Amino acid sequence: MSASSTITVDDKQIELPVKTGTIGPSVIDIGKLHAKTGVFTFDPGFTSTASCESKITYIDGDAGVLLYRGYPIEQLAEHGDFLETCYLMLFGELPTPSQKADFDYRVTRHTMVHDQMNRFFQGFRRDAHPMAVMVACVGALSAFYHDSTDISDEKQRMVASMRMIAKMPTLAAMAYKYSIGQPFVYPKNELDYTSNFLRMCFAVPCEEYQINPIFARALDRIFILHADHEQNASTSTVRLAGSSGANPFACIAAGIACLWGPAHGGANEAALKMLMEIGTPDRVKQYVDKAKDKNDPFRLMGFGHRVYKNYDPRARIMQKTTHEVLGELGLKDDPLLEVAMELEQIALKDEYFIEKKLYPNIDFYSGITLKAMGFPTDMFTVLFALARTVGWIAQWAEMIEDPSQKIGRPRQLYIGPEQREYVPINSRG
Ligand code: SDX
Repeated sequence: MSASSTITVDDKQIELPVKTGTIGPSVIDIGKLHAKTGVFTFDPGFTSTASCESKITYIDGDAGVLLYRGYPIEQLAEHGDFLETCYLMLFGELPTPSQKADFDYRVTRHTMVHDQMNRFFQGFRRDAHPMAVMVACVGALSAFYHDSTDISDEKQRMVASMRMIAKMPTLAAMAYKYSIGQPFVYPKNELDYTSNFLRMCFAVPCEEYQINPIFARALDRIFILHADHEQNASTSTVRLAGSSGANPFACIAAGIACLWGPAHGGANEAALKMLMEIGTPDRVKQYVDKAKDKNDPFRLMGFGHRVYKNYDPRARIMQKTTHEVLGELGLKDDPLLEVAMELEQIALKDEYFIEKKLYPNIDFYSGITLKAMGFPTDMFTVLFALARTVGWIAQWAEMIEDPSQKIGRPRQLYIGPEQREYVPINSRG
């Protein structure tokens, strides 16, 4: 790729530098475009726009490749655990055994939340969507942890990062317990991260909770799959919020709010509801036809992706995990899985989906697994947010530490009225 690109605006030619990364597409640096030509670029969905430089995650959408700090997602999901991925995200390298032990120890000892946080929950209706609760409670953390909100202090940034990773499972479990009218369960330090979360969700005071190791391993792997995904909508939200200097808890709350949308993290909840609405494999064809109908707003939830124009590598691992969990439960012929497999079969052979390169994404199978584990559908996106917190916080920290970082402030193409004079109300109409 040449080191510069020429653009002609109103018969004026200008050179723009081209920057090349380690792997993946090069970029044309348009930072000086407006100053030199008076025009802006226009890319509302950012389909051709790189917003930053990053060393954290690389996606090759055509090849279906996903790397965290250079390591393939398949290998991390197979051989590591979620806290190892968190360490890799934050520090850029896989931990040594002693680094891993120290990191696990430190995260574990940040899992409790300030006891006054309990009162926040009392203000919600029991049937409040847990994502609404999470947006509120995570944002409220900045009211409790003033000693880790000075973003110019590297130590405080790290403390806030550890607190976020550690406290998300506790808050998520509290949101679930509150919704079902059961008492909150405190974390137990002798348990690993994901077992602790399962116990906080499903233990009751009346009896000892038995951790199912298959569920714990499967959920830990699901967290790894959801940890980060380059500059997706919610990560871009966290970066934009952070670019103003907002504290990390407020930025993560903004990310949670964005993730909630059905086009993004909310798709796992929407996908399961879609599978339940389809109900049986014989009804799949009519829903595929609906998804293809230009006049019908219905879309196959859990299908398609802005970047992946091949099978989402996370969806493959997700499908394998689904079979493991259902096998453990003796639910090999789970009706929802049958509908999902039939839907995938039909869609992947259909000209519409082939031509538009629509494949199952991470949200297509995750809901079946989470439902089988006992989570209600409205908790699915909460689990996505729990796992994505490490990606958000790593990307936020990378932005804060970037010396060229400045507040994000896009411009626009104005198509409104030209300047006009005010008309007093008595002279109108
Ligand atoms: C996540 O960005 C990330 O990395 C996100 C994520 C992450 O880890 O952070 O991977 C997590 O959000 C996964 C995506 C979850 N969302 C869904 O499953 C919702 C269903 N999918 C779509 O809404 C859609 O595919 C998007 C939002 C995911 C991507 O949309 P794009 O890239 O803007 O593509 P598009 O809407 O322009 O679609 C291209 C064409 C359109 O047809 P035409 O207008 O060209 O004729 O494909 C069609 C769309 O109508 N299409 C679908 C479809 N998805 C796209 N048609 C039917 N069913 C679908 N699911």
